[in-house]
Amino acid sequence: MILIALLLCFYFGKTILFRKNQEDNDIANVQVIDYGDKTDKEITDGKILFLNNCASCHLISKISEGPQLDNIEERWPDKNLLYEFIRDSEKVIKKNEYAKKLWVTYGKVSHEFPNIKNEEIDAIFRYIKKWKSAIE
Ligand code: HEC
Repeated sequence: MILIALLLCFYFGKTILFRKNQEDNDIANVQVIDYGDKTDKEITDGKILFLNNCASCHLISKISEGPQLDNIEERWPDKNLLYEFIRDSEKVIKKNEYAKKLWVTYGKVSHEFPNIKNEEIDAIFRYIKKWKSAIE
């Protein structure tokens, strides 16, 4: 009886450990981004980037901690300024009235993603558009 209990513990313990490793691997794989011409893959990359980096504060079509992100490019006529804001919002808040207003409205939270590339931000926006068009 004791032996069976021990065997069961061993088996389930291993399963849990294995699952944990699997999750770690999934997260590690996120770093490898291939911007080939496969649109579906680009959208998947955008989804992973969004879920890992932005979803804790942003929903797509509802305000949460931060503003909703649908139609975001329409609110920022200057795309380079938008990239800059995502990488280092404080820098843009100092020189842009719209950014300053947002910052005050949403409780003066600034965000910094110094290493995020324009292509990665574009992938996030593509995912947001695709998600939005799927529910409309
Ligand atoms: C810690 C919470 C938090 C995280 C994480 C976060 N944001 Fe934000 N974001 C905010 C807040 C709060 C604002 C409102 C402006 C401000 O306070 O600076 C904002 C504003 C924005 C805006 C401007 C919105 C508008 O209506 O013009 C964009 C674009 C944006 N975030 C994109 C992103 C992206 C992309 C990511 C992930 C890479 C991200 N944010 C991660 C909190 C966050």
